[in-house]
Amino acid sequence: MSNSVNMPQFPQAFWRDFVSPPEFPNLNESVKTDTAIVGGGITGVTAAYLLCKEGINVTLIDAGSLLNGVTGHTTAKITAQHGMIYDEFIQHFGKEKASLYYQACMEAKTFIEDTIKTHRIDCDYSQEDAYIFTNSQEYVYQLEKEKKAYEELDIPGELVNSMPLNISVKSALKMDNQAQFHPLKYLKVLIDEAVKNGLKIYENTTAVDIEYNKHPTIITRDEHRINCNYVIQASHYPFYDGQGFYPTRMYPERSYIIAVKTPDKFPGGMYINAESPSRSIRSTSMNGEDLWLIAGEKHKTGQGESTIKHYEALHDYAEKQFGISEFVYRWSAQDLTTVDKVPYIGSVTKNEENVYVATGYRKWGMTNGTIAAKTITDHILGNDNSYSNLFTPSRLKADPSVRNFISMNADVAKHLIGGKLEYTNDTIKDLNPDEATVTRIKGKRTGVYKDQDNQLYGVDTTCKHLGCEVNWNSGDRTWDCPCHGSRYSYTGEVIEGPAKEPLNKVELE
Ligand code: FES
Repeated sequence: MSNSVNMPQFPQAFWRDFVSPPEFPNLNESVKTDTAIVGGGITGVTAAYLLCKEGINVTLIDAGSLLNGVTGHTTAKITAQHGMIYDEFIQHFGKEKASLYYQACMEAKTFIEDTIKTHRIDCDYSQEDAYIFTNSQEYVYQLEKEKKAYEELDIPGELVNSMPLNISVKSALKMDNQAQFHPLKYLKVLIDEAVKNGLKIYENTTAVDIEYNKHPTIITRDEHRINCNYVIQASHYPFYDGQGFYPTRMYPERSYIIAVKTPDKFPGGMYINAESPSRSIRSTSMNGEDLWLIAGEKHKTGQGESTIKHYEALHDYAEKQFGISEFVYRWSAQDLTTVDKVPYIGSVTKNEENVYVATGYRKWGMTNGTIAAKTITDHILGNDNSYSNLFTPSRLKADPSVRNFISMNADVAKHLIGGKLEYTNDTIKDLNPDEATVTRIKGKRTGVYKDQDNQLYGVDTTCKHLGCEVNWNSGDRTWDCPCHGSRYSYTGEVIEGPAKEPLNKVELE
């Protein structure tokens, strides 16, 4: 890192520092409900809000605490500009489906706006233009193609060669009238409204399986049962696969966010570049001052180099482009990408119609999570929904899905086998405080972390999902799985699924 501004020692998301969602007990008995929702992020909370408003009996459980997963770690852009996708979608799905995808995003934006108005939610909502920019000639051409797709789909926008943000660009594609907000301020009100309408919430309650016998029953880790008519899996990675083979149809990526103050006022707008490494820029307000959120450096989970380097790269970029006067927060987020880049929203399989999944948002969870909640709750309430076919998980396009499908699986196979054969001769005695290593203890691949007080923590590095080997994430002090993105604390507890069980602990003599 190139200058004197210190990086915060621990990762912490800005959103959660200023808003504390209400707390709820864990489930300690078996219950009956009409709809059970697993996962308290934007999808689960919005679905609960919508169903409770209609008088449906809803129970929501979360393996940890509400709004602390991807939703608590987002950049919170409410936009239909999900990178350069519309030209690609027209090529792969045709104009009608590409247009539907855009409409779905804009409907999500309208829904959020209307909900803010209805409940007079003070959540720092602002309308902003969104830009994809580039400094590479290759991407200038791609942006021109994307602009043609905008024209075909009637998406308001234009190509420009300068932006409100003071950085030099060769070209930028603007999408008019998108938005941003503080997601936790917004969702906290939806939780309050749903609870007023009868929602029951249980935190620290992990769903591990579903028994399906005419109706689904969720089994929790504490062996309690939730009997219901419908299950909505809004837990990021579906905990129940129903032989839908989701691990082979998605891959996880991590990306990083820093929040900094700069000498300049933020000029408005939301920005993302076209090339790699990715850079996404927006601002928010902290105690009346502009806080610049700079995100990017995405890589497949568990497959990056030392992850602290990603924060440093964002810092160096911000310092060079804008100058940093204070480095206030840093955090990371994990997202899932499907084989055709369109989320899976709908029944988990054709045989289990009333068990739903909502996943694969590819970093665009504010719009995709909202439209997922709307699409699934419409299904439960018997309303028509224009987007069900577009998002149904049972679709599979040959082009380009099959190619990606094969390469995703080859990648997982490589890590499944490669991790086990990897040779390591690191020893624990060389560890400095706040460092980790992978070594072999009694022949078993073992991860060891030494904390600031020289206390050692050993874990068996075999992931409890499907048996790949986890790697150390130095930026967040977690063990991350390269195969499907499970993440564990340094003591081995599950932070993020699909794994449901903690890593085995290893005694260190
Ligand atoms: Fe699937 Fe680890 S093997 S997440």
